[in-house]
Amino acid sequence: MAEVSYAKGLEGVIAAESRICKVDGENGQLYYLGYPITELVASCTFEEVTYLLLYGELPNRDQLAVFSAKMRNSRDLPEPVVAMVRDFPASAHPMELLQSVISYVSSYVEHRIHHGPHCNCRDTLHQISEIATVVATYQRVRDGHDYLVPRRDLSHGANFLYLLRGEDPDADEGEMMDKALILHAEHGFNASTFTARVVASTMSTCYCSMSAAIGALFGSLHGGANEKVMDMVDAIATRDNAKEWVNRALDRKDKIMGMGHRVYRAKDPRAIVMEEYLQQLSEKKQDFTYYEILKEVEHAFRERMEEKGKPIYPNVDFFSGAVYRLLGIPTILFTPIFAISRASGWLSHILEQRSDNRLFRPKALYTGSGPRSVVPIAER
Ligand SMILES: CC(C)(COP(=O)(O)OP(=O)(O)OC[C@H]1O[C@@H](n2cnc3c(N)ncnc32)[C@H](O)[C@@H]1OP(=O)(O)O)[C@@H](O)C(=O)NCCC(=O)NCCS
Repeated sequence: MAEVSYAKGLEGVIAAESRICKVDGENGQLYYLGYPITELVASCTFEEVTYLLLYGELPNRDQLAVFSAKMRNSRDLPEPVVAMVRDFPASAHPMELLQSVISYVSSYVEHRIHHGPHCNCRDTLHQISEIATVVATYQRVRDGHDYLVPRRDLSHGANFLYLLRGEDPDADEGEMMDKALILHAEHGFNASTFTARVVASTMSTCYCSMSAAIGALFGSLHGGANEKVMDMVDAIATRDNAKEWVNRALDRKDKIMGMGHRVYRAKDPRAIVMEEYLQQLSEKKQDFTYYEILKEVEHAFRERMEEKGKPIYPNVDFFSGAVYRLLGIPTILFTPIFAISRASGWLSHILEQRSDNRLFRPKALYTGSGPRSVVPIAER
């Protein structure tokens, strides 16, 4: 038998070269194009980081002005797309809506992919800009409101909050939303990004690649951990219940959501930023309920893990759900917000894939039957 190597789930397999993202799990560091995430969050807007992801360098003032104008001019939805959001089955999850909308929006764009390896998706920022408008409009329609024209004078994050609320967010909350989007914009070869690259490798359009990525993100093993963290917080209800709740869950061998990570062996740097945001918002709203419950869970979990000699730390999802809740965002939008943010990372990877393409075509380890003959149906 020929020698084969097999890694279930492709774990540990290097599937491509990439310059985009480095996750240093041992030291708890995350870099986009070499820049530490903490510096990007401290100094940049989501639009600047999107430019970095698409062009490989941070923009100067003039480049950013042109790029921001282009992104902001793409925020508005064509009337048929608004109608689609309005008419979409009320029972559908917003991720299902998003996946369909991206394909629909594609029909408004002239694709040039057949003229060479570089498609025009860097120029058609609709995918990135419109996702935010679609998610907000979905919620507005559910709340009995109608389409609200996006604002061009606000950052990507602040405009999203404006559309959701129907009124200006204050400057701090708008900025916090924008920074939260930076934190989730990119994270290496996760399942949705890999999906986007596999589809891009067939020379399909960037819209098809992104719609496939949205499908991958919808799965509960990828997006959605912060929703589950908030389910846990709701179930615990008060800080005094937290320790017992955690102990009971661990005795049952349940996982504590928002704790641990496949790659980080130190605290997820994004969790550190999110925790600061949660503290700031709790202070501002004078409501520490979520913060106190989460900190109690963290302490109780750490005590139990230390007994086993396993230091496991919070990941970004441990605090992000509570931040979104305090910003007034409903839980069903948490995964769609992940998509709003990750759209930049997906597009960056699609471009990189196209720049040095090779069709993905792994093999399966065949474990099926040996050759056999078809028995006529009358004899089966
Ligand atoms: C992300 C995750 C799948 C990584 O799992 P992993 O690769 O097995 O993690 P580790 O190798 O560090 O786990 C070491 C041990 O700690 C346990 N552990 C890790 N995270 C845990 C958690 N959240 N709750 C309880 N136990 C946990 C593992 O079960 C393992 O125990 P074992 O040695 O007895 O089998 C896991 O931490 C998890 O399910 N976390 C909760 C879900 C979540 O927040 N996901 C979002 C990630 S961004």
